[in-house]
Parts: sequence; C-alpha cells; structure tokens
Amino acid sequence: MTANREQFGSRLGFILAAAGSAVGIGNLVGFPVNAAKNGGAAFLLLYALFVFLICLPVMMAELAAGRNSRKNPLGAYQHFAPDNKLWHIGGWLSLVTPYMIAVFYAVITLWVLGYLVAILNGELEALTTTEYFGNFINSPSIFIYLALIAVMVGVILHFGVKEGIERGAKIMMPSLFIMLLGLVVFVLTRDNAMAGVQYYLIPDVSKIDAKVINGAMGQAFFSLSLGMGILITYGSYVDRQASIANSAKMVALADTGVAFTAGLLVLPAIFSFNPNVNTAELSDSSVSLIFTFLPKIFLAMQASVGYWGASIVAAIFFLLVFFAALTSLVSIIEVPVSGVMDQKGVTRHQALLMVGSTMVVVALACAVSFGMVDFFTSFIHYGGASKSFFDLVIDVFYDTILPLNGFLICMLVVYRWKKAQLNKELEQGDPEYKGSLAERYINFSLGTFIPVILLFVFINTVLNKFFSMSLI
Ligand code: PHE
Repeated sequence: MTANREQFGSRLGFILAAAGSAVGIGNLVGFPVNAAKNGGAAFLLLYALFVFLICLPVMMAELAAGRNSRKNPLGAYQHFAPDNKLWHIGGWLSLVTPYMIAVFYAVITLWVLGYLVAILNGELEALTTTEYFGNFINSPSIFIYLALIAVMVGVILHFGVKEGIERGAKIMMPSLFIMLLGLVVFVLTRDNAMAGVQYYLIPDVSKIDAKVINGAMGQAFFSLSLGMGILITYGSYVDRQASIANSAKMVALADTGVAFTAGLLVLPAIFSFNPNVNTAELSDSSVSLIFTFLPKIFLAMQASVGYWGASIVAAIFFLLVFFAALTSLVSIIEVPVSGVMDQKGVTRHQALLMVGSTMVVVALACAVSFGMVDFFTSFIHYGGASKSFFDLVIDVFYDTILPLNGFLICMLVVYRWKKAQLNKELEQGDPEYKGSLAERYINFSLGTFIPVILLFVFINTVLNKFFSMSLI
C-alpha cells in the first residue's frame, strides 16, 4: 500500500489544504472577539507566541510522524509502537476525536449555509429577530442543509487527495482570502471603523490573567487543527522532497494572518454599527455571535449601502465562513476515511460510505438536540447542569480530549519514536534544518514543557468541566 499511497500534487497544494484545515470558524469569529475582550494587542502577542513556540513544534511532530509512517493516526501509533497496545489507545483517540468534532462542526456549518441561503433570499432583516435562530435550528430545513453538506464534502473526498482535497483548497482558499480582504477594505472605510481598530489593537495587559492565558492556548491549539489527527494524515500524503518546517511555518502564518485580519473586519464592523458598544456584551461564543449579533451589524449597514447592499456584504461574509468551515470539515473527515481505508484495506469509496453514513446519523442526533428531540436535548447531567448531546460532544472532544491527544503525540514522537528519528525525518527535503536553532528548540521543547503544558490544560479542563473545580 505504501508505494501507491495518494500524495498532494505540489507543495503549494499541500500548504493550501493544511491552511484550509486550520482556517475555520475559530479564526473568523472566535479569535477577533476573544482578542478584543481579553487585552487587544496583548492577547494577540500571547496568541502568536503560543502559535510559534508551542503549537508549531506539535504541528511539525504530527506532520513528521505522518510522513514517516505513511499512515492514518491509528496506523502511525501502531507503526511506532507495534508491541505496546497501550499506545494504540492514543491512535484510537486520534480517530474518534476528529470523527466526533466533525459531527458538531457539521451542524454549525449547516447553520451557516442556511443563513447564507436566507440572506440570498432577501431575509437579512428577519435574521436579526431574536426568534429566528431558535426557529431555524429547529426547523425541518436543517435536514436539507445537512444533506447538502454531506454531498459537498462527500464529492470532494470522493475525488481523493489531489483531485479532491487539494483542488477544493486551491479554489476555496484564494477565494476566501479575496473575500476577506474585500470585506476588510469595505468595513474600514465606514464611519467609526477606526474606533474598532483601536479597541482591537491597543494593548491592555491588565486583562491578561490565568484564564485568558488558558483560553489563548486552547484557541491556538484548536485553530491550527492540532490533536485531531489531521496533520498526521496530511503528513502521510506529503512527499519526502518537501520541507516540513517551512510548510508548517507557512500554515501557521496563514492561520494567524487570517485570524488577525478577521479582527480588522469584525470589530470595526461592530463599532461602526454602534460606536458606544459595550464590548462586555459581546458573547464569548462564536455561535451566538455569528447567528444573532452579526446579522444585526450587517443590517445596520443599510443606512449607507441600502438593504441589498447590506445583504450582499452579509452574503459574502457568510460565504467566507462557509468556505472556511467546509475546508476544515473536509480535512477532519479525511482522518477517519483514511483510517478505515488503511486499517480495513477497503477502497476510498467504501471507506467514505461507511464513515459518511454513520456520521450523518450522529450529526442528526446533534442537530436535533436543541429542543426538537427531548432525549438528545436533555441528554445528560454533569458539572451542575443539564447538557444536550451537542454540548456533550463539544465538552468531551473539543475541550477535553484535544490537549490530551497533543500530549500523547508529543510523548509518542519523543519517547517512542525518539528525537533522532524525528530529526532525520525533518531533515528530509530540508538540509538546512540539521543543527539549526529550530531543531534544537524543537528537540528540547517537545520533550519537556510542551507536553507538561498540554497535560496541565487537559487536567484543568477535566476538573473544570466535569467537577466544577479549577487548578488556576
Ligand atoms: N481550525 C479550525 C477552526 O479554527 C478547527 C477545525 C479544524 C475544526 C478542522 C474542524 C475541523 O475552526
């Protein structure tokens, strides 16, 4: 199988596909608001430090482990630790986690698609009413949108790594960059926009506390698609002539660049909508921001560009978010698909059918857990509250297991595969890497403080989410 494993067609194609995975709803909405609320430029600096000093080494370790083993995450764990079944738990987690994250992400993506269609239908004004979101997520139309998304992702993945994933990213990512820049220029030329820029960029160190640091770390880790097996899988499709270090740097830069630029769009838009905005009111959750707050901001633009002008701006924004979400969804669903292909020795088509059909069923359970089906709405009780199935999936897989997976991959690479092998893999296609400062830094950090931090975040999250306690 190894000899004819699929590959990306070009280095740029790989970088765009990995950036497509990394750039998602978290960058476009979550980051700007978190940055604005938690210290502006001070948060940005902290975030950039986490991206480059903590996340980039983990990203390189995942890519190297994938390229060396030429396997999906479970196959990679088995490859590096063939005789020790305990390690395979890490491999299983790296398949189950992306599966479950894909499920909740698909639900949010279907809402984005629904909003896009509604705006194109001339319903922007209706979207700003308080009842719209609640009604929409409980309406039968969500099933149609879920089916549409399943078909779109299915078609892209059906065409495989080069003709599907890479080609999709080559179309969607440049379109995304152009739409983002176009919207930024438009918003920055509105009245009061500069108040938003100032609010976004003026550093306020007093806001930085342990919770904010923890939040910035989680955001950086999630944003780079770490701990989800994605980069192990994508790494297995990269040829040996490519420099992993340089490609990873490009992906991290693109991801951080988009997050930063999205801030220049979202915050000035909020301020030009209402110059006296009280940012404490901005919700922490990307979901309520996208679906209840942003439509109001777009509608307010009708004063200067008319109803249809405002609708067009809103539609471009939702299309942007939709593309970002779709490329992330493609990357994350490819993980279990490649897992089933490798482990069961079936064709891509069969693997896709098996993963896709079961995933739609679990996604349905998530989609109806907002009141449509009581069983899934009040699914479980923990941490002092009743939780829906959707909440449970987010709490367990997104919040809790991701840092654990990051910890496990560091341990696997450094203590099982060993640093010397990692270095050899990273030197492939990159002779300058040998003996560089980056190499020394990565060797040191991956074996010491990075796994310690990830383990700490994991333990703290478990205490926090499930026992209402905290270490910090
Ligand atoms: N990086 C994505 C984001 O910021 C996270 C993600 C990746 C989510 C892949 C799902 C699948 O939104």
